[in-house]
Amino acid sequence: MKYESQKVAYWFFALCMLLFSLQIVYGFIMGFDRIGIQGLHDIIPFNTARAVHTNLLVVWLLTGFMGAAYYIIPEEAQREIVSVKLAYVQLISLAVVGVIAIIGFHLNHWEGRKFLEIPRELDFLVVVNVLLFLGLILVTLFKSPRRTTTALVLSMGLLFAALLYLPGMIWFDSQVTDSFFRWWVVHLWVEGVWELIMGGILSFLLIKLTGVDREVIEKWLYVIIGLTFLSGVLGTGHHYYFIGVNKIWLIIGGIFSALEPLAFLAMALFAVRMYRKGEKSHPNKIALFWTIGSAIVSFIGAGLLGFAHTLPQTNLYTHGTLVTAMHGHYAFWGAYAMIVLAIISYALPNLTGRKRYDSKQGHVAFWLANIGILGMTVAFGVAGVVQVYLERKLKMEFMEVQNEISIHFYVLLICATMFTVGIILYIIDFIKYGRPTVEAIKITNND
Ligand code: HEM
Ligand code: HEM
Ligand SMILES: [Fe+2]
Repeated sequence: MKYESQKVAYWFFALCMLLFSLQIVYGFIMGFDRIGIQGLHDIIPFNTARAVHTNLLVVWLLTGFMGAAYYIIPEEAQREIVSVKLAYVQLISLAVVGVIAIIGFHLNHWEGRKFLEIPRELDFLVVVNVLLFLGLILVTLFKSPRRTTTALVLSMGLLFAALLYLPGMIWFDSQVTDSFFRWWVVHLWVEGVWELIMGGILSFLLIKLTGVDREVIEKWLYVIIGLTFLSGVLGTGHHYYFIGVNKIWLIIGGIFSALEPLAFLAMALFAVRMYRKGEKSHPNKIALFWTIGSAIVSFIGAGLLGFAHTLPQTNLYTHGTLVTAMHGHYAFWGAYAMIVLAIISYALPNLTGRKRYDSKQGHVAFWLANIGILGMTVAFGVAGVVQVYLERKLKMEFMEVQNEISIHFYVLLICATMFTVGIILYIIDFIKYGRPTVEAIKITNND
């Protein structure tokens, strides 16, 4: 760590870990619901648990991205954040909005725009918070004469992510229009601008961890961004097949979304190539595992499993089933959860001034979490395929099918337990290696 203000990142990462843990709790509530253990049903019905699970996912990832930005931007811009005090104000207000939202979900059972269920009034608080965050990051960047591609890509990703939140806030009377614009947020986030954020973090980590020249790494970053936008923007059409809009989207969505895996493939090849090219001398191997792992797993989860249901001919059958949940888990995990865990693994020893390179526990955490979620993905996949067959081919009744497939949720729960042990080990490391120390800034890290 070179700049005092980077310490703010630690607290964002800590909030991130807390919200991530909560997200997992709600995952288990749903998993147990699915096998008929429903002790909490009256307080937390399935639909509430589902909304909290997915909204918490989005919030902990965004919190992680913010922490990443507070860590990366000072180092790239070679100056302190313009106001550390305001950064802490932003952190606390973010936590407050989060708490209000979680309580609100339980009291009001908000429903509606999946992934964006919080009511519009609360959206305005989110907007204020995000404006403060962006202000701090962008002013810091533009006050510095040094604007690297990595920093620009990361901050443009964050800026566009904020702008794209707005279409989801407009009120529409028609459900078709509402759905149409909801995808501008949900799809253009994960298959568009969040990829810029991921690309920025990935590029920063590769520069630090592999020792390959910045010029080489940043050149590839441009290629990836190009591919992302070329395919991702019109790829939105893969959500417009059957929602009541013009049928032209069947063709546009089919063609362009089928090209999207190329961007993820490029990202994976890029990361692996840079690793091979690098000098392999950086001691923080565990950060490297998470970094390269993220690039590879995102190709499988988003690219391959996305492709599996993106053509209209298949999506006609799989739409809105557990096949979607299969893809949703592995894509979010690979692309966004793993990159956040990567930047935390990289930043933590630098922030705290304590060595945490390559603890055995860190490696065990990595493998347990990854094998666990792979198993969960397979369980969702098998359940999803059976669901599609029984419900949409044999026309069995919906709830009858849900009973048939409940067996797969035993498997899911076993794998989820393994996953959770991995994450608990990760969090124990996070806590054990402590808070930022004063010495941390004085230490010349091997970065
Ligand atoms: C990191 C990137 C990605 C993430 C995090 C992600 C995540 C998700 C999630 C959570 C959903 C469910 C959304 C909802 O129903 O509200 C979804 C749906 C979908 N995704 Fe992805 N995805 C990613 C990339 C891709 C890619 C690259 C493709 C295509 C190649 C793809 C194809 C689809 C399709 C076709 C659906 C609609 C499923 C349905 O009809 O029920 N996704 N994705
Ligand atoms: C470890 C424990 C977890 C369990 C037991 C679990 C379980 C579940 C269940 C049962 C659902 C609802 C599926 C349905 O509609 O029936 C769900 C939804 C979802 N979960 Fe998890 N989950 C866990 C962790 C995670 C993690 C770590 C992520 C992200 C990296 C994640 C991302 C999602 C997403 C995106 C959805 C919505 C999928 C869709 O729209 O189809 N979950 N989860
Ligand atoms: Fe999409």
